[in-house]
Amino acid sequence: MNSFELNKIAAAVLTALFVFLMSGFIGELLVHPKQLERSVLAIDTSRREAPAQASGPAVPIIEPITPLLAAANVENGAAIARRQCAACHSFDQGGRHGVGPNLWGIVGADHAHAEGFNYSQALLALRGTPWSFEDLNRFIAAPRAYAPGTRMAFNGLASTQQRADLIAYLRSLDTDPKPLP
Ligand code: HEC
Repeated sequence: MNSFELNKIAAAVLTALFVFLMSGFIGELLVHPKQLERSVLAIDTSRREAPAQASGPAVPIIEPITPLLAAANVENGAAIARRQCAACHSFDQGGRHGVGPNLWGIVGADHAHAEGFNYSQALLALRGTPWSFEDLNRFIAAPRAYAPGTRMAFNGLASTQQRADLIAYLRSLDTDPKPLP
């Protein structure tokens, strides 16, 4: 092997090295591999929070049921109670407590009215105030908004008409139903 050939080999090696380095460099220029700014798996919650931020703390607007009570449908209220409440509550006089307390005579009864039922602090704190029609309306519409920390695991009944029917039914569960407001 003469020196000319050695030079050719050296040149080939250098060229290969140069091409190798340049391709990396050009690749970098073309592709810009970068760290993601945030994880693609991160769940975007900003949209859900936006309205609350725009209008201050979210206060659910609960329509009063008082204007609907006189014409409310007690039978429909009983059906709603069977569907939505009976898994946890009994409604008959002297009925047993379930997950929730018996609700006979609840309209006008004290908050946390049932002796011996294991109420949350949230409801115990309201003892001494009777359940008015509108208290029941607000509690049933949004239990956790009415009594933060309540143990009643119920999301709330959104329909004002259904709440009126249901509360008219609750009112009927009494030997002497409270007068309509
Ligand atoms: C998943 C079970 C569950 C369901 C469903 C449920 N409740 Fe309750 N309810 C409870 C529990 C538990 C309490 C006691 C709450 C506490 O101590 O914070 C309660 C408390 C109450 C109280 C207060 C009673 C008192 O003595 O002050 C009322 C009124 C009431 N529920 C009505 C209803 C109505 C009406 C429905 C149906 C729309 C309903 N609940 C659905 C579990 C339930």
